[in-house]
Amino acid sequence: MSLILGIETSCDETSAAVLEGSGDDVTQRSLIILSQDVHRVFGGVVPEIASRAHLTSIVPVVEKALAEAGVTLPDLDAIAVTHAPGLVGALLVGVSYAKALALTLGIPLIGVHHMEGHLFAVALEHRDAVPPFTALLVSGGHTLLIDVEAWGEYKLLGATRDDAAGEAFDKVAKMLGLPYPGGRYVEQLAATGGSTRFRFARGMLRKNALPGDDDYYAFSFSGLKTAVLNAVKGSADLESDKADIARGFQDSLIETLVEKTARAAAAFGRERVVLGGGVACNKTLVRAMAARLERDGAKVFAPSPRLSTDNAAMIARAGLFRFELGETAPLSLAAQASLPIPGLHAA
Ligand code: KG4
Ligand code: ZN
Repeated sequence: MSLILGIETSCDETSAAVLEGSGDDVTQRSLIILSQDVHRVFGGVVPEIASRAHLTSIVPVVEKALAEAGVTLPDLDAIAVTHAPGLVGALLVGVSYAKALALTLGIPLIGVHHMEGHLFAVALEHRDAVPPFTALLVSGGHTLLIDVEAWGEYKLLGATRDDAAGEAFDKVAKMLGLPYPGGRYVEQLAATGGSTRFRFARGMLRKNALPGDDDYYAFSFSGLKTAVLNAVKGSADLESDKADIARGFQDSLIETLVEKTARAAAAFGRERVVLGGGVACNKTLVRAMAARLERDGAKVFAPSPRLSTDNAAMIARAGLFRFELGETAPLSLAAQASLPIPGLHAA
């Protein structure tokens, strides 16, 4: 049994969590997430402001996570921190603080890849959400379809060729005059819209596509974004059309995500599908995915909203896995804007 502190500062959430356990038997002792609302004013994350906000909140956030878990620093066995990918200045705050703590306490430091963290999130809530499974990670910066044979063995099947799914939601939200980040507002608006007025093409979803084709698992959302923009510009009364446009957009994006994930689960004979990333908060997506995969006899696992979006519990969980493999990081661990997931290889 290990007691591990996780730290996450890759974007605009300052988060810390304490987990206890071994293997897949892990208990979340605490999770603190402080979201930086300031970026809403600018309609996007401002890197310099994000770094400064992490600096002011990292110490109290970690202290609160320890207090809620009922532990003190000397109780810890290891410290896991997101070191890539993300905003370098933001990552640096967490990485520097984690290094200082690990050095002072004389315990191991573990560098965690943020997207590997997203793969582990739902395992904290559902004991069955463990490999082998098909994973769909959909966040503001990434859209990844991965076959997970075992923890640490990842086959990359498909990724987006342009915008990430969350980015598409955020851009469409902006076109429709909704707040940032806009995913949940688009979902709310779409729920009041009709599905027949705006039917947008499904990006890269050819019905006659075959496994091995370039676009079989790949995603592209920029065409959809342009189609939405044209609908917005062509609307004589956007106020009354916007719910139908949001619905048309979301239907198209969800159908693409669901069909490609179903293709992957079928091709690899997986009975479990794991979702992760902020877009996995989208209940309409989760319901459509569950309904479609049920037909193929597969079960869909989606994290609760708190664990779908950026959080340190998933970082501690992935960190525990790496720690048990003996993969500790040197104090020279660098913050990196981009880096492939460890153990990820092309299909
Ligand atoms: O994983 P995340 O918190 O941060 C990144 O690592 O990017 O994901 C944030 C993204 C944003 O694009 C946001 O609009 C989207 O997740 N999102 C949603 C919903 N809730 C959050 N997208 C669609 N529907 C939602 N309900
Ligand atoms: Zn994320």
